[in-house]
Amino acid sequence: MTTRLDETDLPKWLRQRLLAAGGSVPFRTFMAWALHDPDHGAYGSGRLVIGRRGDFVTSPSLGPDFAALLAPQLAEWLAELAAGMGLDLEGAAGTQQAAKARPRPLALVETGPGEGELALQLAQALAQDWPQLAAFCELVLVEPNGGMAARQRQRLEASPLPCRWVRAEALAQSPRTGVVLAHEVLDALAVERIRWDGRHWRQQRVALSQEAGRPECLGLVDGDRLDPEAEPALESLGLWPPDPRREPGWTTELHPEMAPWLATCAAGISRGRLLVIDYAHSAERYYAPQRQGGTLMAYRQQEASGDPLRQPGSWDLTAHLCSDSLVRAAREGGWHLLGQRSQGEALLALGLAQRLHGLQTPAAGEQLDLATALGRRESLLRLVDPAGLGAFRWFAFSRDGAPAALVAEERPESGRHSGQAQPPGSQHPGDDPPLPLFLRDP
Ligand SMILES: C[S@@+](CC[C@H](N)C(=O)[O-])C[C@H]1O[C@@H](n2cnc3c(N)ncnc32)[C@H](O)[C@@H]1O
Repeated sequence: MTTRLDETDLPKWLRQRLLAAGGSVPFRTFMAWALHDPDHGAYGSGRLVIGRRGDFVTSPSLGPDFAALLAPQLAEWLAELAAGMGLDLEGAAGTQQAAKARPRPLALVETGPGEGELALQLAQALAQDWPQLAAFCELVLVEPNGGMAARQRQRLEASPLPCRWVRAEALAQSPRTGVVLAHEVLDALAVERIRWDGRHWRQQRVALSQEAGRPECLGLVDGDRLDPEAEPALESLGLWPPDPRREPGWTTELHPEMAPWLATCAAGISRGRLLVIDYAHSAERYYAPQRQGGTLMAYRQQEASGDPLRQPGSWDLTAHLCSDSLVRAAREGGWHLLGQRSQGEALLALGLAQRLHGLQTPAAGEQLDLATALGRRESLLRLVDPAGLGAFRWFAFSRDGAPAALVAEERPESGRHSGQAQPPGSQHPGDDPPLPLFLRDP
């Protein structure tokens, strides 16, 4: 049993729950409590803060460029869905009052919107650069954690699009046409930890440890061996049959909440796209024998820790996705894979290099002081850094009748192809780029 000897790490609420559960619970239950318990969880209580001054940064925390680069892709998809519904975008302009009364048949859904910053920036980009399309769109936020939703509501008071918060299950009751964005959300779903004991895979549990003469503390212990029925699933990940290179004690994660999440998400979208952006490894890399501790990490106040038991409810806990498991679960849940890319590739295809260039040669009338330009340059480079955010994976899926034209070839910079949802003003004067899609035939 691994133990932690710091009493302060064991909050009373957790001690009571563990005692009520007989002294231990599966790691997955512990992780769900530590993140999503409405009173004590790091997200549930709203304790975690995302941003440069918060606990950890995500791509949107680095500034508005991430949303600006992503917006054309989302607009492209929304425009295609609008065309499929026969919406008259040209006739959509009108008075503000008419716009308020107009039905909003298209949904831009963000699940797990965090601080709400990305949702706000995307709504602003849509309203500014694609006003006719925006006139048919509403922003739908799916956030199960009350503490986070409260801050999102404040932030999104400034949204130019109407906003609604719904539960995923409620969306499934009245499905929408639209685009779902899941940015760093699936990595917050509780994972199962499993440990190889030399003969069997065992579920790892979090237990109270009460060793005589020592303070009570938390520990990780081996639980039941995995059911033999799990073997086909383990085999598909390369975890079965046993590999002698995995020593006893070798530990990793499984993602049992991903498939239900994808299926519920599919049930909420009758026709549309899903973009998942997250840390991910292929099964081959995720479960490679040399990765002997899995990918689970804890974050707080910009500090990273490999210990998931530290001050439960105060740290973000996160595990990478397994891209093979994600794609399989998505397919089984009703999604069709359009393509996947590293974030670096996706953002470059969406015009990041041109944006960098634009910092050196601001458009007429645009004023950029040196410090701002350097700060934005650094942020843009961080977004594509292959050792950091640039290694994130973008997975695009469609549901029901996604037009094949979506899956377009990227072209060299000088000759990018045309798209329907081009904003009225180009980012860079003299450059009239057709919209670059980041997808290619998978
Ligand atoms: C790592 S944060 C990412 C926030 C934001 N997308 C960003 O990139 O800055 C995870 C977010 O997902 C939310 N979340 C956790 N579980 C969720 C679930 N099952 N469905 C939707 N959102 C969830 C959390 O409350 C939090 O807002």
